[in-house]
Amino acid sequence: MAEQLPILSLLPETSELVAGGSLQVGGVELAELAERFGTPAYVFDVAGFRAQARRLREGLATRWPNSEVLFASKSLPVLAVYELASDEGLSVDIAGAGELRLALAANVDPSRLYFHGNAKTSEELRLAIETGVGTIIVDNFDEFRRLDDIAVAPQDVLVRIIPGISPKTHASQVTGGKDSKFGLPFEDALKLIEAIRKSRSLRLRGIHLHVGSQILETSSFAEAVRQISAFRDQSVYDIGGGLGVRYTYDEQAPSVDEYLDAIVSVARDVLPPDARLLIEPGRSLVARAGVTIYRVVSVKRSGRNFVAVDGGMADNLDIALTGQRYEALIDGRVGHDGDDSYVVVGRQCESGDTLINGVDLPSPEVGDLLVMPVTGAYAYTMANNYNGAMIPPVVFVENGEATAVVRRQTFDDVVALHRSTRGAHI
Ligand code: LLP
Repeated sequence: MAEQLPILSLLPETSELVAGGSLQVGGVELAELAERFGTPAYVFDVAGFRAQARRLREGLATRWPNSEVLFASKSLPVLAVYELASDEGLSVDIAGAGELRLALAANVDPSRLYFHGNAKTSEELRLAIETGVGTIIVDNFDEFRRLDDIAVAPQDVLVRIIPGISPKTHASQVTGGKDSKFGLPFEDALKLIEAIRKSRSLRLRGIHLHVGSQILETSSFAEAVRQISAFRDQSVYDIGGGLGVRYTYDEQAPSVDEYLDAIVSVARDVLPPDARLLIEPGRSLVARAGVTIYRVVSVKRSGRNFVAVDGGMADNLDIALTGQRYEALIDGRVGHDGDDSYVVVGRQCESGDTLINGVDLPSPEVGDLLVMPVTGAYAYTMANNYNGAMIPPVVFVENGEATAVVRRQTFDDVVALHRSTRGAHI
């Protein structure tokens, strides 16, 4: 068992290795979930999510009482997760009408919604106003003009600025760099602020920035607080999300406490003491609570040792986009079988469809359950139908119970959108 323990630090918090080498999450054996819900499937540890939500919310509130934690819902846009987030006292960051509607369907208080996006349509802005979205984050002048026309009663807004910080992360995950498509540079933001101050329908509450995602050093966040403080006398300072998580044994991520200490110690120096401080965690809130389960479909020793599974880039696109590395286990078993390491590949027709380019596995065989930890963030979000893959279910596990909070997509769901030009009935 000893060599299996390090894997527990990557698995959901309630994970347990039980006798016979199988893995339980939330008191349910993954092998049983695979039987019941099929594979691939996203499994989500509700208690682990709640614990992390509390660490973030209580941790920030203790250090800076006038504060709010927003669930960046793009990281896991699942109705039941919006419900959990509001149970835990989180507000919600939405980007787009789809996330707005999911949040409303989950009965999130609309005044606790923060509406992001660099290309909000007028239709979306109208929907936001009609449904009482509390705060809209204005990205640019064009959006400002359209929103100014649409809003009637004073609508709270934040202005998104480009912080000009380039943290060490994958290029696709840097959103705060100088040439970012999101937000405005400082001088333009000042002009936008002036324009909003003159508007009768908009009420400027503060400033927003977001540095990027999967950031593994706290200095970028400290720098973000310093930069946002250049905008004096605001009521709200929203420094976005981006705290990175540990995906592999050799990665190190700051703890929630280290992250909060870093931002609040700078905030104490540079922000008005009565200002409201907001953070928007996505990945750091949900990533570790999720694992994906697959079945091994073939094991091929040809050049490399390939383990092919019944999913791939259709259910985890992140890897192809960012090169993120992962670990894996075979049900509850980890380790090395004396062979070289394995390349875990998916079933989509792309040579880039590699889930893990080199991982030790204990003699994987066809039919085995392959578990990939830390897939709670952005995997379900970007799931797609490549090669006719069906979007996998999201299964909540808690106290020995399992519930599919998103059922598996079916061929009927997909084909319902299609029309034959030859009168075919499918
Ligand atoms: N706030 C804003 C305005 C954001 O754009 C994002 C993420 C977040 C908060 C949450 O960031 P997080 O705490 O999750 O890092 N699929 C990409 C991630 C894109 C993140 C986009 N924005 C990837 O896996 O690299």
